[in-house]
Formats: sequence, structure tokens, C-alpha cells
Amino acid sequence: MQRADFDRVAGVYQLLEKAVFRSALQKTRCGFLDALPCQGKALVLGEGDGRFLKAAVEAKKELRFVAIDPSQAMQATARGRLLPEERERVEFVHARVEDWLEGDARPAGEAFDAVVTHFFLDCFSNQELQSLVPRLASRLRPGGVWVVSEFRTPSAPWWWRMAGRGLIAVMYGFFRITAGLQATELPDHRKPLREAGLVLPADAERVALRGLLASELWHVPSCD
Ligand SMILES: C[S@@+](CC[C@H](N)C(=O)[O-])C[C@H]1O[C@@H](n2cnc3c(N)ncnc32)[C@H](O)[C@@H]1O
Repeated sequence: MQRADFDRVAGVYQLLEKAVFRSALQKTRCGFLDALPCQGKALVLGEGDGRFLKAAVEAKKELRFVAIDPSQAMQATARGRLLPEERERVEFVHARVEDWLEGDARPAGEAFDAVVTHFFLDCFSNQELQSLVPRLASRLRPGGVWVVSEFRTPSAPWWWRMAGRGLIAVMYGFFRITAGLQATELPDHRKPLREAGLVLPADAERVALRGLLASELWHVPSCD
């Protein structure tokens, strides 16, 4: 199967995003920034061009990060945003998450305190998430959190639902042509997260642009 390659869009990614959504996506990414732990280690998947990483490194001065992305260009941009002392707290991994999971030499007991996926789970089909999510969830410690930002089809009003569907279809078309993305529609990421034992409390979900964008703060129940 052809693998997505975001190198070709890395240079215009921020520009296009701001032209269409202004600051709404970045606000969604940072919606639960405060809920990240102050210490420990966070796993940031498909980090992209590093705007969330920069905000997180600045907000959480003792938290360490593992940032995984197979796009050299995206990672170079992300790295370039960080100060030298901030870079010391970030381990950049140039890989697809599936390959990293296969080859990660981290001791089994070394769990992460947070997983972050902003506009990343939508790069996969339902079937792929069914396999990926539980493997990632098993890397989270009890009491850990998983922050998700995603697009959604708005439920109402009808014209906004239609517009949202159209916009999402256009974005999938764009990334298919430019990056070779195979996914064609938004997967249901909530099902595999729930099945992996994570919970989404009622107050842990925020929407923007009338329901087109959502940030979610999932929790791994504590042992006690
Ligand atoms: C739509 S972009 C989202 C980037 C960023 N998280 C954001 O909020 O804008 C998807 C990102 O995931 C990366 N990606 C795609 N497939 C991946 C995979 N299998 N494993 C890890 N990262 C992947 C891409 O290189 C790209 O940087």
C-alpha cells in the first residue's frame, strides 16, 4: 500500500490552514494544553510542523516529549521552531508510528503520561485504528491522558452540515493528491479508544466552528 508522504505539503501547511481556518485549528490543538502533566513524558504522534509542540514545550517546562512523524520536512520545521534548550526535552523520531511500535526498544514498563494526536487519527481507516489505538493505549500509564483534536461533521444546521461534509471531502481530496493519503473519510476514533478502556468525561470535550472541530481529553482510569 502507498504510504502517505506529507513532505510536499509541509512548506504550505500553515499558510493553507490559516487561509481557511485562521487560528481555529491551533486553538483546538491547545484546548487541553493545561491538562497535560507537568512532568513525565508525552508521546506526540504525527506532530506535523511543530506549532503544538512549541506551545506545549513553553507551557510545560519539565515535561519531556517524544515526537513521531515520518515527514522529514515537517520535522525539520518543527525542530526549527524550538530553542536549543527546548530541543533537549524533545526526542524526534522519524518514523511511521506503526513501525515505531514494532521497533521501539523502550522497556515495557516505561509508560507515557500522555498521548497527543492532533488531526492525526483522521489519516487512518476504522480498520487501521482498530489495530493501532489499543497498541498505543497500552503505552499509557494508569491515570494518563490522551488528547485528541479532530474534524467532525457538524450535526446542525443543515446547511452547515452540508458545508462541513464538503470541506472535509475537499481536504481528503487535497491530501490524497498532494500527500498520497489513502484514507477517504473521517474514521470513528472514539470506538477504539473506548474499547481500549479510555474514558471521555462529559466536561472533557470542546467544540469549535459550530461543531466542525473538536478537542477531547480522554483518561486512562487510575488503578485505585
Ligand atoms: C494532517 S497532518 C497533522 C499534523 C499536525 N498534527 C497538526 O495538528 O496539524 C498529519 C501528520 O501525520 C503524519 N503522519 C502521517 N502518517 C503517519 C504515520 N503512519 N505515523 C506517524 N505520523 C504520520 C504526517 O507526516 C503529518 O505530519
